[in-house]
Amino acid sequence: MIYDFDEIISRRRTYSLKWDGEELIKDIGYTERYDYETIPLFTADMDLPVMQPLIDALHQTVDHRIFGYSIFPNEYFESIQHWFKKRHDWVIKREEIVYSPGTVHALNIAVQAFTKPGEGIIIQRPVYPPFTTAIERNGRIVQNNAMKCESDGSFSIDFVDFEEKAKDKNTTMFILCNPHNPTGNIFTNKELKRLSKICEEHNVIIVADEIHGDLIRKNKRFTPICKVVENTDHIVTCTAINKTFNVAGLHCTNVIISNPERRKTFNDIMGMQLPSPFTIAALIAVYNEGDEWLEQVTQYIDGTMEFVKSFLAENMPTVKVRIPDGTYVMWMDFNGYGLSDQEIHHRIYNKANVLLEDGWMFGKEGEGFQRICVPSPRPLIKQALERIAVEFQDLE
Ligand SMILES: Cc1ncc(COP(=O)(O)O)c(C=O)c1O
Repeated sequence: MIYDFDEIISRRRTYSLKWDGEELIKDIGYTERYDYETIPLFTADMDLPVMQPLIDALHQTVDHRIFGYSIFPNEYFESIQHWFKKRHDWVIKREEIVYSPGTVHALNIAVQAFTKPGEGIIIQRPVYPPFTTAIERNGRIVQNNAMKCESDGSFSIDFVDFEEKAKDKNTTMFILCNPHNPTGNIFTNKELKRLSKICEEHNVIIVADEIHGDLIRKNKRFTPICKVVENTDHIVTCTAINKTFNVAGLHCTNVIISNPERRKTFNDIMGMQLPSPFTIAALIAVYNEGDEWLEQVTQYIDGTMEFVKSFLAENMPTVKVRIPDGTYVMWMDFNGYGLSDQEIHHRIYNKANVLLEDGWMFGKEGEGFQRICVPSPRPLIKQALERIAVEFQDLE
């Protein structure tokens, strides 16, 4: 089946955080302006239609007419195992899979389960803000191993600094984001091995957030960290269907924990989590029948990223942007204008009426940057960029 991703499907009045969340968005300080004309491209979900087999599976669940407490059928676990073997040649044992209603939830549980208050946790800023929240709200300390920005706009790891932080006796965890949000960086096998070796040597547990691992550019490859190391006892990996298949609202994360004691500790802290029948139906459908749609949506997102890059080169050459290896976010560098973060924000959010995500929210390394989520119909992205370009025309 061929999908039409150019179609603009209105999400207003569908309880969408992005399109209906005016009050919450203002409350949490993302923007002052939010009205019917706002184009929201901040939160990471897609404005694109999901695959037909998923819709059919959900319809079937609705048609049953009873939505009681549910359990995980064998097919749930087999579908996960099948997907990761096929896509990543990663053999996951059934008992290693732990369901969580969300990745941020799982990160918080991991912090509580495997570290103590006051201990240090390494993250690599600029990074997805809830990493910081999961550390600080649980009374742990952020150890920032900032990503190094290279002259071509790519990012790399400062291994000297990483090792220093891992060696610190107070450091007990590293939260890895791979593919990395917001830079879109995918770490190489060599880098992953090196990170794992350092952590293993210094008793630092790795929590790998790999939920963007199936959203990668056509010419790139992604390898789960568990695939490149022999011993996975010190690794906990978060996988999810939410980003890949646009089902964030169905709350389905699967955490892979190979070490049985660690798994028990994690489960003890989390408590029993029962799934919704919609979540089960969705996971089975997407992991068994999702390849065709994913191929098409990836191709569409790749095309949109090319479009964004050439639009900026033509109309806002001062803004630097790279096509990321993975994820569906782009990390745009506005520093060339020499404006303050407030002025950049004012021009984009208040004047152009486009809602992106301010780079400083990802850490001070993000100052002068803006993150745009591009999995929306290309005509909408075009309209948003045109509005933004008008507001910076005086500086080009
Ligand atoms: C790296 C990363 N982790 C976690 C999440 C949120 O996942 P969940 O909705 O499963 O909590 C996001 C969403 O943007 C993300 O980018």
